Amino acid sequence: MSDPNLLNELRLARELVTALVDTLDDTVSCTQYHPDLSPIGWHLGHCTWTESYWLQATVGGDDRHTQPVEALYTPSATPKAERGARLPPLDALLQWTAGLQAINDELLESGSPPLLDHPLMQDDYLLHFLIQHYSQHYETMLMILTQRACRADDGTFPVKDPLHPRRPDPTALAVQPGHYRVGGTAPIAYDNELPPQQVTLGPFSIASRPVSNSEYLAFMQDGGYRRAELWSESGWHWQQQQVHEQPDHWRRNADDHWYGIAARGAYVLAGDAPVSGLSYHEAEACARWAGGRLPHEHQWEVACRLRLLEDTGRAWEWCGNSFYPYAGYRAFPYEDYSQPWFDDNHYSLRGGSLHTRPSIRRASFRNFYQPDKRHIFAGLRPVYDTQA
Ligand code: AVJ
Ligand code: FE
Repeated sequence: MSDPNLLNELRLARELVTALVDTLDDTVSCTQYHPDLSPIGWHLGHCTWTESYWLQATVGGDDRHTQPVEALYTPSATPKAERGARLPPLDALLQWTAGLQAINDELLESGSPPLLDHPLMQDDYLLHFLIQHYSQHYETMLMILTQRACRADDGTFPVKDPLHPRRPDPTALAVQPGHYRVGGTAPIAYDNELPPQQVTLGPFSIASRPVSNSEYLAFMQDGGYRRAELWSESGWHWQQQQVHEQPDHWRRNADDHWYGIAARGAYVLAGDAPVSGLSYHEAEACARWAGGRLPHEHQWEVACRLRLLEDTGRAWEWCGNSFYPYAGYRAFPYEDYSQPWFDDNHYSLRGGSLHTRPSIRRASFRNFYQPDKRHIFAGLRPVYDTQA
């Protein structure tokens, strides 16, 4: 029998994902609201399929339920733009999901020896993996609902107390040069967090808080989006393709006041809340404007472990380095989880957002996206070079 607490966590993760779709209609479930995001119904199908692929097909040796929809729910096999047309109606999808999950529960509760003896079941590895998989898709589903709300917004949200620009808070905390340990631990860690590493860091200081909405407004009003010297070459190139002027989830009303868009619609931007909805390029330019730069992800992790960081977990924090394999990396439990994205075109993010479930909130967790992605809930926290 698997750990009952983990079984409960898996059930909770499923319920949260299901609750995001079960009140929607078929059209919404199948609509693609953003070129980088699948229709929301696909995520429910994909999470259920993934769970069943590992438990029923891989561990249990029975692929009757997963094989017929393998192409639909394997990301590399069906492009995002084709997923909506191939999805079943929502009622059918929910029923199929409930049926497969019931089979999986039976497998997990039965404790029959061949199942629990499988290497993937050791230390409940697979349960951790599946819970975290749901968590990651849960957050992506909130990105979809946010894009849907962005489309529906009519630009008339009244703002009583407009955001005021504020110079960046210069409070930064020094980290001594030295050798530090980073990385995750089995059975919770993903393959890209392993094996744990010993890293050598020079002296640096790191902002105690992420860049806030008010501070980002100051960047905007200081001409941040128009000053080439603040941007990297590729960032400036990106900015000139399609001129951005504000974070992805900000809108401006007729009084020229900014407000935010979240899954449930327009809301008041809090001045001291971490800014979110930035691409890597925007984060990089803002860090330079603030007199610093984006941290290496190990600077972030070490500072986090030293408990120096305030306000983590409200917006993901872009790091300056591209996503790469640690020395001794081994793909697990499948190659496509991390390996294809070690392509020098994905950058690491650390921390978590308001929509990040506890199961993936940890110092060693590595998120990764391409540098132009801004539909994610990401901002930044600068670091500054210091003398030894
Ligand atoms: C690490 C969040 C970018 O959602 O595409 C989910 C995680 N991998 N299913 C993604 C993932 C397979 C991944 N991110
Ligand atoms: Fe997935």
